Order: sequence, then structure tokens, then C-alpha cells
Amino acid sequence: MVSDRADAADFQAITERQKETWATGDFHEIARQNVFMAEALCAAVDPHATDRVLDVACGSGTAALVAARRYCDVTGIDYVPALIDRAKQRAAAEGFEIDFRVVDAQALPFSDGTFDVVLSVYGVQFAPDQQRAADEMLRVCRPGGKIGLATPLPEGWSGDFLATNAKYMPPPPGVRPALYWGSDGGVEELLGAGTQTIQNERRTTLQYYRSVEHAVEVFLTYFGPSIRAYNAAEDAREQLRNDLHEVFTRYNRATDGTAVIENQYLLTVAIRS
Ligand SMILES: C[S@@+](CC[C@H](N)C(=O)[O-])C[C@H]1O[C@@H](n2cnc3c(N)ncnc32)[C@H](O)[C@@H]1O
Repeated sequence: MVSDRADAADFQAITERQKETWATGDFHEIARQNVFMAEALCAAVDPHATDRVLDVACGSGTAALVAARRYCDVTGIDYVPALIDRAKQRAAAEGFEIDFRVVDAQALPFSDGTFDVVLSVYGVQFAPDQQRAADEMLRVCRPGGKIGLATPLPEGWSGDFLATNAKYMPPPPGVRPALYWGSDGGVEELLGAGTQTIQNERRTTLQYYRSVEHAVEVFLTYFGPSIRAYNAAEDAREQLRNDLHEVFTRYNRATDGTAVIENQYLLTVAIRS
């Protein structure tokens, strides 16, 4: 039987290429837009002081910092060393001791049931072997613990934005899009076997920029997947810039020349069985 799912060797090669993509630019410059989602996720999952919290694919540590402000015992992992360095700097600036490590979300170096809470904001969803990444989160979460996710939705700004990048740099064959996590059926398939309950809620967040042109410039300067798509687009680069401009304009709620981009995401809280 021919499978449309990549095998383990493919996943490893794809992971290496994706790591280079995420290491391109500097996601920390974009991460400010995720603060509101990280706060909303922590409010929904509600970790308490001394809870052991893992932030998966933490980037520069945005959700990890939110949990640390609650006096949680926090670990953050991401596979881009420069982002982990930035996360350490941010933690030091706030006087927190957070265990930040360079790690692949598909192979977590923690024993079973290490954490009370596992979080990810627009992070674990990008791992190419989605079931393995889901199984790893389930494995390291203790029975009765919580897994909380903020996930890009296929509809709205995230879906349109990711589809625009993919038009110029198509995803590798055999890999489901990150947006698969952004549906009730997708989350159920990936986490259902290891959870008692899964609650999904559609939420809205806003991103602020000086203008739509500024938003496009920020992404083409700092967001690895857009930079890679721009480089791959060759003689269609202006078309990509125009497409991004259109996507940001479509979701812009500001009327004063600045940009306030409305973004919808799926907020998931699952209880580990
Ligand atoms: C959109 S950014 C979000 C970062 C962070 N969670 C935030 O909200 O600011 C996606 C992050 O996922 C990380 N990432 C993607 N796939 C990963 C994997 N397989 N293992 C570890 N990190 C991964 C990237 O390096 C990047 O930092």
C-alpha cells in the first residue's frame, strides 16, 4: 500500500529543514503579538504556583514567562538555539529561573508524567510528525494534568497568512499542515486517546502595527517562513508582497492608518487521563 504519510527518515529530514527556516530572521520580533494569546491560554488552563509547567516550542519564552509570573516551576523548549538564548535573557531580566533548553518537540528529554501542565502557543502545531509530538506532550504530562494549546485556525488571518506563504513555498509531501490542529476533529484525533476531556473554544486576538506596510515589512524581515517563501519566490517576490498586503488589509480593523489585525485561534484545554 502506498502511504501519503512521510516515514521516520523523511520526518527527520523535514524537521532539520524546518529548524533552519525557524532560525531564519528572528521570531522574537514577532513574539510580542503572541503575548495576549499566552496570557489567555494561562488564564484558561490556570496553572497555580509550584505547578510544573512545560512550554513546548516556546520561541523566546513568551508563555513560559507568563507561567513563571505565577510562581510556577517552568521549563521551556525550542529547537532554535538563538531563540532559547533570547528566552534566557528575558527570564534573567525578570529575575526568573526558568529551565530553557534546545530540544525538538518530537523527542522530549523528560520522563513520563514530569509536568502538571503542558502549554504551546502556535508552536508544537508546526512539528511535522504531529502524532509523535502529541504523544510526547501526553507522555510528559501527569495523569489528571492539563495540556493547553493556542492554535492557528484554518479560517481567518492565520489560515490566509499561512496559505499565502505555502503558495510560494509549498509544504513537503506527506506532512499535514499545522492548521490540522485547528479543528475539533484534528485535536480529537491527535490527543483523544490520552485525554479524559478536550475543550475547544474559538478566540480572537489582535496584532498591532504602525501600518499594513509595516506589518508586511516585519514579517518579511523577521518571520523565517515568510523570508524563505520570499527567497523561493524569485521573480514572484512582488506578488508575494502584494498577497501579504492583501491578507493584512483584509483583517485590519484600524481606520486611522495604523494596523490592528484581527486573528482567530483555537484555545484547547485537555485533561490527561
Ligand atoms: C510561531 S513560533 C511561536 C513561538 C512561541 N510559542 C511564541 O508564542 O512566541 C513557532 C516556534 O515553534 C518552534 N518549533 C517549530 N517546530 C519545532 C519542533 N519540532 N521542536 C521545537 N520547536 C519547534 C520554532 O522554532 C518557533 O520558535
